[in-house]
Amino acid sequence: MERCPRPKLPAGWYQVCVGKALKKGASRRVDYLGRGFTLSRSDNGVVSIAEVTSSGRRLIPPEHVHEANGIIFLYFDLAGREPTWRVPVIPEYGQKGWSGWINFHWIVKTHIQELMENAVDKGHFPTVHKYFKAPNVNTFTWNGPTFNFNMDAPHKVFGSVQNNNLDLTAFALSLVMVKVTTRTLTLRVCDTVTPIDDDYVQLNTSVIFKKRNPLYDAAIRIALPFEVKRYITSDHPILEAKGYYDRPVLCAEDGPIMKLRSWAQQFYPPTEA
Ligand SMILES: [Fe+2]
Repeated sequence: MERCPRPKLPAGWYQVCVGKALKKGASRRVDYLGRGFTLSRSDNGVVSIAEVTSSGRRLIPPEHVHEANGIIFLYFDLAGREPTWRVPVIPEYGQKGWSGWINFHWIVKTHIQELMENAVDKGHFPTVHKYFKAPNVNTFTWNGPTFNFNMDAPHKVFGSVQNNNLDLTAFALSLVMVKVTTRTLTLRVCDTVTPIDDDYVQLNTSVIFKKRNPLYDAAIRIALPFEVKRYITSDHPILEAKGYYDRPVLCAEDGPIMKLRSWAQQFYPPTEA
């Protein structure tokens, strides 16, 4: 079956490095978007990015580089359009009472759009993520480069069944901020997707949790990585095997896949959308 035939690099802010991995005065090479880049942090902490080309280095305009919430992003659009949005600040990040980032990275053979289709696919939550039923969608709104999806579903969290409220806001196809609220756990999650080349994408998940007391915090610090890995990697074999139907036969439980596809068009080069 054919994989998603859309262009591989829709416009968006792409995570290229976790901020703490680039120390003051240091440089490092990364390979994303079918290109090589050099990231540098000056002695006063400012990040700059240059694309490494066959004829030398091309400095990325500073307005296309943004460090937000301790993560470094590069704006990229093959069609040369300027960004109309910035990576939003997560108010809880860096605040007293919240943990620091716990970062995860995976490399998966899929198309960036498939991740967003997965996020709104209501029907897969019970089957793939072991929710007790399909989530109840409270709100679903679309506005320019963002959409917001708020849903409730009973889910097992650290061994006990609890309502799980997920509030998910997407910014183009490359960035999703999620607020997770359960009785025992409050999280802020930054999920990003950065294509590496024509076949592979890097998935990045960064999580902070709301602290309660030293014993609770120590337990969460140990348990959370297992829970996050189990949850997120459940999708990976499906993403790698999935085919793409232009006009799929859908039922109500599949979620608004076609609406998502028409929203996604704005990020592709106009001639190819
Ligand atoms: Fe999923």
